[in-house]
Amino acid sequence: MNYRHAFHAGNFADVFKHSVLLALLDALVAKDKPLCYFDTHAGRGRYALDEIEAGKTGEWRDGIGRLFDGRDIPAPLHRYVEAIRACNPEGALRIYPGSPLLAAQALRPKDRLVLCELQEGEAVALQALFRDDPRAQVHARDGYMALNALFPPAERRGPVLIDPPFEEQEGEFATIEAALRRAHARWPNGTYAAWYPIKSRRTVAPFHRHMSGGPFENVLAAELLVRPDDSPLRLNGCGMLIANPPWKLDATLARLLPALRDMLAQSTGASESLCWLRGE
Ligand SMILES: C[S@@+](CC[C@H](N)C(=O)[O-])C[C@H]1O[C@@H](n2cnc3c(N)ncnc32)[C@H](O)[C@@H]1O
Repeated sequence: MNYRHAFHAGNFADVFKHSVLLALLDALVAKDKPLCYFDTHAGRGRYALDEIEAGKTGEWRDGIGRLFDGRDIPAPLHRYVEAIRACNPEGALRIYPGSPLLAAQALRPKDRLVLCELQEGEAVALQALFRDDPRAQVHARDGYMALNALFPPAERRGPVLIDPPFEEQEGEFATIEAALRRAHARWPNGTYAAWYPIKSRRTVAPFHRHMSGGPFENVLAAELLVRPDDSPLRLNGCGMLIANPPWKLDATLARLLPALRDMLAQSTGASESLCWLRGE
């Protein structure tokens, strides 16, 4: 496994993923009952943007770099930008939080976090980051397998973020589908959010088609293209498939996605979409 998220932390795909994740978590914590957050591919939890990896690609400049210091941030993005600012209390942008850290901020003392990361170095860093947080369990193991072993959680409420590195390219879609089917068999009422890259929309169509055929009754797909998908070797956009989304999340995302497109577009052909693949 070669993937290191530090090269990509804070890029447009992270901004999309993490702003959608916060919208999802906020909708879930609006209900009083405790929940359990699962992160199958958690990463190291926080990334220094002035270190070699992030500096080499500079991807964050067209992501969080466009938002952090901005004055005219559209209202739907305020929540996300404030969460990133909270990780940079000295004012300058230096730290980009990963999904576990953002989730930990958004959750309450009564909630739990189960964080899986397969790469040893990343898992050790994640364990160190959460050492003093009694809500969090860090597992240095395969996140897909953990879903089988740990489901359903005692709380019977909560979101599962599935955010693999897609090193297997299109093959990863089949792996996600299989994981979602197994997860549904054990915990049909969980909320599942699976991130995916979009090089060409054509390659995403089978995934949408399969998920529109079951097993979940309600499936929403949110997507952002920062440029048209006519350059098949580039990451032109990304999406989040959400099974069992909380009530009214679609309305929140309908406001968030155009704001993301406006702020993150890399060409005039940028676009966003939100559609129910099944249900509603
Ligand atoms: C895209 S990054 C995760 C980023 C993180 N979710 C975030 O938003 O900050 C994918 C991570 O998955 C890890 N990984 C790859 N295969 C895995 C597996 N089968 N189980 C758990 N982690 C895995 C990689 O080491 C990498 O850190």
